[in-house]
Amino acid sequence: MKFFIDTANLAQIKEAQDMGVLDGVTTNPSLMAKEGIKGQDNILKHYVDICKIVTGDVSAEVISTDFEGMVKEGEALAALHSQIVVKIPMIKEGVKAIKYFSEKGIRTNCTLVFSAGQALLAAKAGATYVSPFIGRLDDVSTDGLSLIEDIRVIYDNFGYETEILAASVRHPMHIIECAKIGADVVTCPLSAIAALLKHPLTDIGLAQFLADAKK
Ligand code: E4P
Repeated sequence: MKFFIDTANLAQIKEAQDMGVLDGVTTNPSLMAKEGIKGQDNILKHYVDICKIVTGDVSAEVISTDFEGMVKEGEALAALHSQIVVKIPMIKEGVKAIKYFSEKGIRTNCTLVFSAGQALLAAKAGATYVSPFIGRLDDVSTDGLSLIEDIRVIYDNFGYETEILAASVRHPMHIIECAKIGADVVTCPLSAIAALLKHPLTDIGLAQFLADAKK
């Protein structure tokens, strides 16, 4: 399973990359705003800066909601760097844009997916990745992980190559459950990846080994 980090923070991206387990980055307009990145030129430069840190795919989201606007923005984003994946919202115009990009060989990440039907449409349109938001489903008392299970079954039934990119992943158990289900990718904050490291018996055992080594 691939690990993507869900942030536009360069220090955190570098830290995850340095751990040696990072396969890519996802961003969205909210994450860019959180880092104070404003203005088109700065936003484009920031995507390139992210691409220079990581070796894998970097999702950059369009903000247009009409087909022509998405195509224009997406083509400009894709031209920035070979690692860029154009992130497109799951709306009717977005499905058309995903199909267009798929035929042009431009990779896409279909975002804001909350149902199996939406995921099926994204795969039929030729999305490279589909992003079901599991944490936000959990937030409204719906089981986000069962959506990942449903999409896995549907994609396997028909051999769709669209990768399931579990998004809105909030904690280490989300990551473990996604791995058990067979999600292709999880995208999460650095804190969730770092939490996978932790076990009190590891700390106790290491302290004991180090104490015994001095004997
Ligand atoms: C996905 O690509 C989104 O950027 C992200 O995972 C949303 O997560 P949130 O629900 O924690 O904002």
